[in-house]
Amino acid sequence: MMPMDTFVVDGLEGQALLSGSIAVNGAKNAALPVMAASMLLEGGAKIHNVPDIADVHSMLALLEDLGAYASFSKDGACSLRMNDAGGTVMNTDIAKRLRASILLVGAVLARHGTVTFPHPGGCVLGSRPIDLFLKGFQELGCSVTEQGETYTLSAKNGIHGGTLFFRVVSVTATETFMIAATRASSPVTLHNCAMEPEVVALADFLKQSGAVISGAGTPTITIHPARLAPPLESFRIISDRLEAGSFLILGAFLGKEVEITGAEPEHLEAPIETLRAMGVSVTIERKQEKESTLRVSRPEVLSASDIRTHEYPGFPTDLQAPMAVLLTQATGESSILETVFDGRLNYVDELIRMGADIRVWNPHKATIKGPTPLKARDIDGPDIRAGLAFLLAAAAASGTSKIGNAHLIDRGYERIEKKLRTLGLDIQRITS
Ligand code: EPU
Repeated sequence: MMPMDTFVVDGLEGQALLSGSIAVNGAKNAALPVMAASMLLEGGAKIHNVPDIADVHSMLALLEDLGAYASFSKDGACSLRMNDAGGTVMNTDIAKRLRASILLVGAVLARHGTVTFPHPGGCVLGSRPIDLFLKGFQELGCSVTEQGETYTLSAKNGIHGGTLFFRVVSVTATETFMIAATRASSPVTLHNCAMEPEVVALADFLKQSGAVISGAGTPTITIHPARLAPPLESFRIISDRLEAGSFLILGAFLGKEVEITGAEPEHLEAPIETLRAMGVSVTIERKQEKESTLRVSRPEVLSASDIRTHEYPGFPTDLQAPMAVLLTQATGESSILETVFDGRLNYVDELIRMGADIRVWNPHKATIKGPTPLKARDIDGPDIRAGLAFLLAAAAASGTSKIGNAHLIDRGYERIEKKLRTLGLDIQRITS
């Protein structure tokens, strides 16, 4: 059985005492699609700046189970070779661990003409259907058969070209069809696409491998069929804007002076603008061509804010829960409107038990009155981002909290306790 780790956090009683430097890793949500897309490169790829997190290891295990050779070194270099990747049936146990397993559907289908996979698992954020994937592949000439929770897609005559319109904006659907369409018989145009930086990063990876793609980063993407050239010797994963955004919120919450290195501020406009409007000073020092150092600290008074999550470039849904924790310390009434998922306020009850004054009006809307002191509690994080939010709440609380389900936080954050300790937080991991 998997060990169930718990974080033990000694709270700072709301005092802004954290200081020092914290580094941002490569982006989980950029690494996973790039790893899946490598399936289409005969010679595979060498990918750098890959975070050492549980979801990356699950993706590696899925690829290996399909016959790929995969190696991962602690410095974040990941080598993938696909010569023997002949499998077409995804391992159910592993695929159920992460929603991103769906990204492999397009790659395996494009490579072998068939793929069998379970309904993907991942964070419970509401219903999370896969209708866009099934309908889209049918429109591109594939057949879909369903047996319980297992699906088989077949493209006997190959994947056709055509035009797809996504009913809702979906990051992984956009990415899956970009990957699959590189092997379609004629061009594929996707409308109402996600514009996330991770989509652009995947397009860069595919283009460097020989794909012909235009429009990534806009709502309309066109993919022209092309044989991908083997192998891609070096591709660097972009900085994780969600990890950087989480650290910015931490700095605004408890920072005396927190420095965040290796961030990409151009991908963080909505969170930075929101924090500045609340009175938080965020300074940006450009270091390399793209990656920068951010400095952030807690202001004397935090102003209330109205947060509305939105697809990129709007305020990221993945920072909604950490932001709610910060809003408990803002003066006045703040509000949160979650527009991306229908079950992403499920963590609020625990914050209320910690002393937050939050009212949930419906599954999408909550109001938060502050500032209110937070008390320590023993709680389990329900998903990656809400788990991180609980760590922030525990860091500010009076007393010692235990935050269970550390494995969920480990899915998205590399050795978070080590990073937070460098800022002066008393946090330990216990394994039972
Ligand atoms: N949706 C459908 N039908 C579909 C697919 C999606 O209705 O077939 C709906 C979803 O239910 C949701 C909306 O579309 O209401 C948007 O979901 P999306 O498909 O964009 O989410 P995702 O691709 O499954 C990615 C990230 C998530 C992030 C969301 C939103 C990856 C691997 N995951 O998920 O990241 O929250 O986009 O930005 O890229 C995380 O990192 O903790 C995380 C959950």
